[in-house]
Amino acid sequence: MLDSTLSELETRAVSLIEAAADAEALETARVEFLGRKGSLANIGKDMGKMAPEDRARVGKLLNAVKQNLESRYESRKAAFERAALDARLGGEWLDLTMPAPGARPGSLHPLTLIQKELEELFTSLGFAVVDGPEVETPWHNFDALNIPPSHPARDAQDTFWLEDTLLLRTHTSPVQVRAMEKFGAPLRIIAPGRVFRNEEVDASHEHTFYQLEGMMIDRDVSVAHMLYFMKSLLTAIFKKDVEVRLRPGFFPFVEPGFELDIQCLICGGPGCPVCKQSGWVELLPCGLVHPNVLRSGGIDPDEWSGFAFGLGLTRLVMMRYGIDDIRHLASGDLRFLQQF
Ligand code: DAH
Repeated sequence: MLDSTLSELETRAVSLIEAAADAEALETARVEFLGRKGSLANIGKDMGKMAPEDRARVGKLLNAVKQNLESRYESRKAAFERAALDARLGGEWLDLTMPAPGARPGSLHPLTLIQKELEELFTSLGFAVVDGPEVETPWHNFDALNIPPSHPARDAQDTFWLEDTLLLRTHTSPVQVRAMEKFGAPLRIIAPGRVFRNEEVDASHEHTFYQLEGMMIDRDVSVAHMLYFMKSLLTAIFKKDVEVRLRPGFFPFVEPGFELDIQCLICGGPGCPVCKQSGWVELLPCGLVHPNVLRSGGIDPDEWSGFAFGLGLTRLVMMRYGIDDIRHLASGDLRFLQQF
């Protein structure tokens, strides 16, 4: 009697387990038959009341049924888990034939961009692009530029002195002297490059920055020639009319000397940290080359004259792109660099 109950129960359980449509239905079937309070457990509890000869036989039978159901349950459970995993992986799409993303193309630094632009402009006007050393002699950096050892203008540029009386050039002007020494007159050169000053660093000062020196030597060169070149320069750079003002400026290597200021392009005039609240930015000091400087370069000032200028390339880049802090330029921050 119990035997047939058991085999009926087994048939029903097997069909429920095999027909379970999903993991939930399978779990319901497991609880009903194999659970702690399920059908098989209940039959087990009643075995105590059986005659000993029945007990052994029913016990064996019960175990066989239990094993059968358990193994069917496990294999169906594994099948559901595999199907769930397949469904998830099917959703996560991975194309192994796609080419790797590769290195991102780099871009030129804004200083390089402007330097190249100016080199193109000046070479089109007959100027040569020349280079000079960043470690200079005091003679090229100061004396030859009409700044003798006792002259207060030496103090105006906080110099990084090196051992054996060399220094990091404080401006690109020494390249004027080297170019005169090497090429003589007539001469048309620009010299872009890195310069160094022992400065307190803030939004508009760095210890390392860039200038572009220019020099033209010929017969009867005047302030009018100088102004023509300075205006061509500014129009090319800003691609629009920029407000400028010319002030007398003192630099020992020019006479007369000028400060050419442009109206601050960051704030447009009212004042901001870049223009030190003045509305104007010193951009282009210039002047006619001092006779002593021509002489230092081995050129006869009675025969030749010239103009020179020292463009603040770093400041120009800041004006052109509206960069409000000089420290961005050497930060190496990709968020900054990728904008150019
Ligand atoms: N060398 C100067 C400086 O760094 C800038 C300068 C002024 C350069 C006048 C020139 C010039 O060629 O004529 O402060």
